[in-house]
Parts: sequence; C-alpha cells; structure tokens
Amino acid sequence: MDIKVKNINLDEAPCDLLVINMFAGVKVLGGGTGAVNKALDGLIQRLTREEKFKGEFGETLIFHTHGKIPAKKVMVLGLGDRRKFNLEKIRQLGGITIKKARELKAKNIVTILHGAGIGKIDAVDSARAITEGAILSNYRFLKYKKSEAKKVGKIDIDEFIIAEINKSKIRKIKKGIELGSFESLGVTYARDLVNEPGYQLLPRDLVDRAREISKGKSNIKLKIYDKAVLEKMGAWALLGVAMGSVNEPYLIHLKYTPKTGRAKKKIALVGKGLTFDSGGLNLKPEQGMSEMKIDMAGAATVLGLFSVLNDLNLKVEVHGIIGACENMPSGSAIRPGDVITSMSGKTIEIGNTDAEGRVTMADTLFYATKQKPDYIIDIATLTGAVIIALGPQITGILGNDKKLINELEKNSKITGEKIWKLPLDEDYRKFLDGKVGELNNVGGGRSGGAITAALFLREFVKDIPWAHLDIAATSYAEKEPNSYTPVGGTGVGVRLLLHWLLGV
Ligand code: BES
Ligand code: ZN
Ligand code: ZN
Repeated sequence: MDIKVKNINLDEAPCDLLVINMFAGVKVLGGGTGAVNKALDGLIQRLTREEKFKGEFGETLIFHTHGKIPAKKVMVLGLGDRRKFNLEKIRQLGGITIKKARELKAKNIVTILHGAGIGKIDAVDSARAITEGAILSNYRFLKYKKSEAKKVGKIDIDEFIIAEINKSKIRKIKKGIELGSFESLGVTYARDLVNEPGYQLLPRDLVDRAREISKGKSNIKLKIYDKAVLEKMGAWALLGVAMGSVNEPYLIHLKYTPKTGRAKKKIALVGKGLTFDSGGLNLKPEQGMSEMKIDMAGAATVLGLFSVLNDLNLKVEVHGIIGACENMPSGSAIRPGDVITSMSGKTIEIGNTDAEGRVTMADTLFYATKQKPDYIIDIATLTGAVIIALGPQITGILGNDKKLINELEKNSKITGEKIWKLPLDEDYRKFLDGKVGELNNVGGGRSGGAITAALFLREFVKDIPWAHLDIAATSYAEKEPNSYTPVGGTGVGVRLLLHWLLGV
C-alpha cells in the first residue's frame, strides 16, 4: 500500500473510494465535505438526512456516485463530538477506512485529512496518525497461512492518498506520512516477532534479528555475549533461568549513535526476551502456557524500535539491551529454592521458577547501568498480576522517577497506547527478603504482584532514573482493542518510546 499526498480537489479525484467526514450535529456541510456535496448537487446533505446519519464517531455512510464525480463510491465518516476529537480518533478512522475499503474491494482510496480544518489539528500530526491507522490496520500475520495470504493479496489496497488543496500544507503532510510510516514499520516488525511461534524464534534467532538490524549501519553497533562469555561476566541470573533449556541464552546489546552532532542524552532500553516461558519446574497450567511465545514482546519492542531508528534520525544515543533465553523444565533446570549470584553480586533465591523474567532482568538491568545512561526504561511481559489490575488494554508503569513517568504518560496520550501508574510502595519491599538468599524472586503471594515484581527490578537499577512498563496484558490482543490493532502481537510500546525519544 502506497501512502501519499496529492494536491487535488476531493471532488476531482479519481478513485474506488472517496472518504470525507462530518462532525456530529453539523447542519451545513463545509470544507472538503461541503465541496463534494456541492459537486453532487446536495446529495450528501439529502442522504445524511434520509439515512439519519448523525456523524457519531465511526459511523459510516457509503453510496455510489454513478459517474457524477470521478470517485466510484463515497464514504462519509462520522467524527463524533468536535470537543472530543483527537489524534487517537484520527488513527482509528485510518483503520476504519482500510477495513471498509477491504470489504468493498476498493484498491484506490482518496481521503480528506481529518481534523486539519475546523478540528484545528496540525497537519503533520494528523497525517502521521492517519498513516499509522492505515498501515497498522492493514497488518496481518499470514506467514504460515499461505492460501489465505494469496487471497488477501488479491484484495490488497494499492493506494491511500490524502487529498489536500492547500499547497502550503503539502510539505507538512509529507512529513507526517513519513513519520507515521517509519513508526508503523517499527510496530509491524515487533508484531511479526511476537506472532512467531516459540520454536521458530529461539534465543539465537533474536540474535540474528539484531544482526540484521545492525548490518551495514556504521552508527548501530552490536555486541553479543554468549553462554561462555556470560559465565565469565558472572551473569548467573540470566544463565540460571536458561539452565533447563537446550537452547543457550544470549545477552544482546545494540547501540545507536546519531549520524551527526553530539547525542543530547544517553538512553538504555531493556527488553524481556523469553522466547518461551513454560514456567520451568513450576510448570504453568495448560491455559497459562499456550500463549507464552509472546514472552519476548519487550525484546520485540526494542528490536522494532531499532529497526527504524536510522530512518527517524534520532538525536539521542540509544542502547537496546535484551536477555534472550528460554524457560524450560528439565533435569538441568533451576530448582525452586536454588540460590544464584547475579552479575551485580546480589544473591537471588528462586521462590518460583515461573517468576523468571525479573531474574533475567536482574542481569540485563545491571548491565544497562554499566553503560551510565541518563535514563533506563525497561519493557517486559512481567506479570499476570498487571492483567488483573488493569485489564487487557492498559500497560502498567512503575519507576523511581516521577518526571520520567510523567513524560511517558504525556506521550502515551498522544500515541494512544494507554498506560497507568502503579505505586512502587516501600512497605512491600520486605516481601522480597529471601530466607537463604538476599532477595527472593517472589513475595507477598499473588496480591500486588505487579508491584513486587517492579520492586525486585528496582534493586538492580541503582539510582538511575528508571521506568518499567509491564506489557503482559497489552503486548498481545485476544480481541481487537481498536480498528488498527488486529488480534495477535500488538507491537505495544514502539510508538510510545519512539515518540518520547523524538522529544527528549
Ligand atoms: N511471563 C509471565 C507473565 C505473563 C502472564 C505474561 C500472562 C503474559 C501473560 C511471567 O514470567 C510469569 O509467569 N509471572 C508469574 C509470576 C508469579 C509466579 C509470581 C505470574 O504473573 O503469574
Ligand atoms: Zn514466568
Ligand atoms: Zn515470563
């Protein structure tokens, strides 16, 4: 699907589907919609009345033009309440447009730029959001469904064109399309990784992806630490979790430096990279294990982001750090009650082998502190508890730095990836005291699990400003949360972190 802007009148644009819009409660059609209505001798005004089209958000009215204008069909999209209109709505409208176009088998779409008129939204932002909605809703994971892939290929959309008559806006719209495209590519990269089955994406495959990403790019450096090197480094937390698997663990370290100029800040992004989490000897039950190929979603977000960093020309130094391993039960697996010494020197007693993510991250976070970053942000499918606390569509955020959390909250309101702050309460820290080791990897039973897990992570970030995103619920969509997020891996966090990085 080619997305571009054209300096053309809506009513003069040849296409299979022309998309215009209407806010709720509008009596007289203005702007682009008004112009199309005029070219159609007032047909839209009549139809909206006859069909009782109210302009509610997401409502659609579709009709044939019978050759009156070059567009074959017109779709009027409801924008809803003008006061509630925002970028997330535009993103969703992009998604709705693609879905309808697929149903109608329309290959060429021309659309109005929503919100740029009376909605008063900047053209860059609006174009960026509609581009994201269009690309992300068009995503499918059909690698292992060849016949369906063929079918889908036949109804694929060729062109998605934003029509703009105001010449001065063209440059802005181009910029928005470019930003939205790269960000969405990062998201679909992450989605592909999350959707890949556990055996098809082993720890060494994450290493290969990191190699592909850094290949031929002089400003993206890659260091890989294999089992032998990790042993020398004393990374027994990561090694301990990996002990039960025949597939060896790796620590992946990507480093991006801006092509020109000095980096303003140094940021470390740490992703949980469990390519499969069976629970280990504390084996998960059937239901809990079936989706555990997604336990590398944090790593997928970091890799997705790195796959587009060069295209976005970021001005900060970014470190992407991943502990890639597999949590399996076997004769060589780590046992409940075992004590390991992490890279930091702190000893960890394994209360439960299924709380493995935090154990691997003890070493990856500690490794991150050694890079002396200004900020550390980790992203991890860390706890089932966050799903209970916040439900399927909200990421939990915890950390030791209010300002950083505030900034991420602000950015999430723009990117539409919902996050909610949970308290890192000091009183719960004692639950993690070990009986034999310095720290137990679980504490406090199941209650407050997202908080105790984050408190465990905090032990390894020293006093560096740090935020932790628990994406256990949001990395995978069992039902579509919105028009641009299909069932499966969501690629959550890629747009949020990119948006934040672009503004640091
Ligand atoms: N990978 C899981 C968390 C998870 C659950 C991710 C559901 C995505 C969906 C994590 O390793 C885990 O198993 N956590 C346990 C911790 C418990 C043993 C203290 C949990 O949350 O049940
Ligand atoms: Zn687990
Ligand atoms: Zn896990």
